[in-house]
Amino acid sequence: MSVSRIRRHAQGVSLLKPFPFGRFEEGECVILENNLERVKSGDCQAMNSNIFTESSPISCLPGSVGSPSGIPNERATRVPADCMETAAALGPITLLQPGKIFFGNGSVATLAAELAARDVRKVLLVTSPGVIKSCSDVLSKLEDAGVCTRVYAEINAEPTVQMFEACLRVAREQPLDGIVGLGGGSPMDVAKLVAALATGTQSVRDVFGINLLHGRRLFLACLPTTSGTGSEVSPNAILLDESCQLKKGVISPHLVPDVACVDPLLTCSVPPAITAATGLDALTHCIEAYANRFAHPTVDLYALQGIRLISQNLLAAIADGRDTTARANLALGSLYGGLCLGPVNTAAVHALAYPLGGEFHIAHGISNAVLLPHVLRFNLPAMPERYAHIAVALGAQSARSPAATAERGIERLDYLMARCPMQRRISEFNVPQEALPRLAKAAMTVTRLLKNNPRTLTEQDALQIYHAAW
Ligand SMILES: NC(=O)c1ccc[n+]([C@@H]2O[C@H](COP(=O)([O-])OP(=O)(O)OC[C@H]3O[C@@H](n4cnc5c(N)ncnc54)[C@H](O)[C@@H]3O)[C@@H](O)[C@H]2O)c1
Ligand SMILES: [Fe+2]
Repeated sequence: MSVSRIRRHAQGVSLLKPFPFGRFEEGECVILENNLERVKSGDCQAMNSNIFTESSPISCLPGSVGSPSGIPNERATRVPADCMETAAALGPITLLQPGKIFFGNGSVATLAAELAARDVRKVLLVTSPGVIKSCSDVLSKLEDAGVCTRVYAEINAEPTVQMFEACLRVAREQPLDGIVGLGGGSPMDVAKLVAALATGTQSVRDVFGINLLHGRRLFLACLPTTSGTGSEVSPNAILLDESCQLKKGVISPHLVPDVACVDPLLTCSVPPAITAATGLDALTHCIEAYANRFAHPTVDLYALQGIRLISQNLLAAIADGRDTTARANLALGSLYGGLCLGPVNTAAVHALAYPLGGEFHIAHGISNAVLLPHVLRFNLPAMPERYAHIAVALGAQSARSPAATAERGIERLDYLMARCPMQRRISEFNVPQEALPRLAKAAMTVTRLLKNNPRTLTEQDALQIYHAAW
């Protein structure tokens, strides 16, 4: 790391009072007058002609944007090229997480004890018909702990506003201390919204968007049974608004559950096709959070480790649902993906996936998976270094350049998805080619995610991506 005081002129830059060691190279990343820039050839000459040999008296953390000695502006801080985007994002960030996260086989019992300890005695358990059959153990653990549980098991995949409102009516029929969401993202998202809206006067259509929810009075716990959406730790809830056939999100800190309980054993009954779709959703959360305009080191850790865990364990869990090691690793990867969603969130893959779910009811994980490699190819030139890191986390070998390594990452993804029991082309879901312009138009409305995408995406770009995936 070297630090120099430099100033940019019309002709290039000059060092005012140099403290460098080592040479600046063209293309290298520096923090120059508080902006992150790449060294141009003219800059490079000017900097290197002023090199001193002694060490810098100023020490600076890699990627630090701050001014350790209080010297404002006029400084160039060398930044490892692969940290360029991270350094750019070293701004303030807020990490919102549940007050408690229980993780591990058998942790349902810990959750039941927690509810009893908090005097949460009357709960509505919101779940799916397919889940309650395989997770009856959760009910008996709650009952053993003295928690009186009413079950609402009507939340099918990809919930609509209507499904949510039916559940809300049931919640309002009785005095409750809390809501428990049990299942994949569908019942967990409904449970989160019911907990927030059961006691207030806001309607769900009032709160679609960011930070519109006034609060939440009911206790909220979520237990994922897929790996997965990460909804158990995220501030998001997604519903299909039938009035416009669009999937819409409520994003609010009040939707982060009080307690998340990730018991990987609950996922052992997930059939192979759903394991694949949900696993690829979790992988997409991690990839889109790492290659993101708002990527941040506090989230990068989760994102990269999530990519490693999911890519190394997905096929094993598909092949044998009772492989408890693979299930536990996938559950952890999915949790990490969820922890990326609040502070950084996803980008163009999810933005383009929503209209596929909204109009054609393609499951969320599949909608993402069919688009993932195509969006990555489009985005790659904007952040080759970051996509190279992703590639290595996916198990690719490094190549001669970050861009070439990143390409290998996309090949790894193709390899992984080719072994998943799922269709890989949009046309296989009865989506006519004539629908693609309509989908592209709808995708452009998902601005809350498109703004995160590493590369600006126009409606024409979206259309080309849909064609490539069709
Ligand atoms: N809130 C968030 O942060 C967030 C993030 C991503 C996606 N989502 C939303 O979550 C929803 C998708 O959730 P999902 O992908 O988890 O799927 P899901 O909840 O829709 O479940 C898919 C299917 O799997 C079955 N299933 C679930 N667990 C099972 C188990 N243990 N054994 C057997 N069957 C089981 C369900 O019954 C259902 O038929 C979408 O609406 C999506 O938009 C939310
Ligand atoms: Fe997702």
